[in-house]
Amino acid sequence: MNEMATASAMATGARKRIFSGVQPTGHLTLGNYLGAMRRWAEVDQHRADALFCVVNLHALTVEHDPARVRRLSRQAATLVLASGLDPELCTLFVQSQVDEHLRLSYLMECTASDGEMRRMIQYKEKAAREQGRGGSVRLSLLTYPALMAADILAYGTDEVPVGEDQAQHVELARDLAVRFNQRYGATFVVPKAVTPPVAARVKNLQEPTSKMGKSQDRTAGVVYLLDEPEAVRKKVMRAVTDSEPDVSYEPERRPGVANLLEVLAACAGSDPERLAEGYDSCGALKKDVAEAVVETLRPVQARHAELAAEPGLVDAVLLAGAERARGLARPRVDAAFEAIGVLPGR
Ligand code: TYM
Repeated sequence: MNEMATASAMATGARKRIFSGVQPTGHLTLGNYLGAMRRWAEVDQHRADALFCVVNLHALTVEHDPARVRRLSRQAATLVLASGLDPELCTLFVQSQVDEHLRLSYLMECTASDGEMRRMIQYKEKAAREQGRGGSVRLSLLTYPALMAADILAYGTDEVPVGEDQAQHVELARDLAVRFNQRYGATFVVPKAVTPPVAARVKNLQEPTSKMGKSQDRTAGVVYLLDEPEAVRKKVMRAVTDSEPDVSYEPERRPGVANLLEVLAACAGSDPERLAEGYDSCGALKKDVAEAVVETLRPVQARHAELAAEPGLVDAVLLAGAERARGLARPRVDAAFEAIGVLPGR
């Protein structure tokens, strides 16, 4: 089917290429799901030739336990499938199984500048966190966006569906594509980020001015995709709001309430401003958010349990995915090597 998809893309010449990824640095969260994964399944795999990747090499940029990264990589792949990806429609694979990412990453390092890497917000935040924990900052954390640009550019990607926090990295990938093409000749498609209309940045329920992230210390405000319904309810009911008794959608002034409205809007397919009109207390809002999240996660958790019982099936999907991905990436990465002045080796 993947070959058929490619053939039909070539026949029409118009099928878009989509690429996106998730890194196995922690258990996946509601933020990952609403900001990215859900749309991959509901929209992206149907409208384009879409590749989705568990970007495990990125998980090595911070202090890590090898066994945990291995486990989380499989879990992430299983959850992405459980969220509704159909391997007959799209390609799912693990980054480390396709060498082209690392090959191209070096060329991206030779295209980017030290200054533009240091300007990345995520680098600043994560470097500060590593230092705060008494650890050292790995060089790969700085060069991470070069690998991410390689992930995207290797596939001639047109669109990168991501949450808002990744927009800066995708912007850098754009800049690198343009720069490489100008210096060495047209090699890469210039990609663009696509973010969802709501829930592009789900906030930590305990700290509604910061992102709900999978590697945060304050886990009481993080809803994980595999949380039991009771745990979800507890976390939502204890979400930090403010001292005003009513409900209104004012993200700047009332970030806690706005976050809850956005989560509800994303789960219910509605819009946060309209939803706000239907509530006169935060308690009632929280109850509905909790139930909406529980109901949204229910089918994903059920499918995850089925797939987790059949690890051979997930492995087979990943292997087939890596094979197709390799075939797509290799010619473009070879062309980039040639364009930049490296004698061909294959
Ligand atoms: P990662 O693993 O942090 O997140 C995976 C996806 O989930 C989105 N996301 C969120 N969206 C809304 N609210 C949140 N709180 C939230 N938290 C995470 C992210 O924006 C992302 O779309 N660097 C990337 C992984 C990556 C990648 C790529 C993505 C590596 N190479 C190439 C796209 C294309 C990352 O760390 O995502």
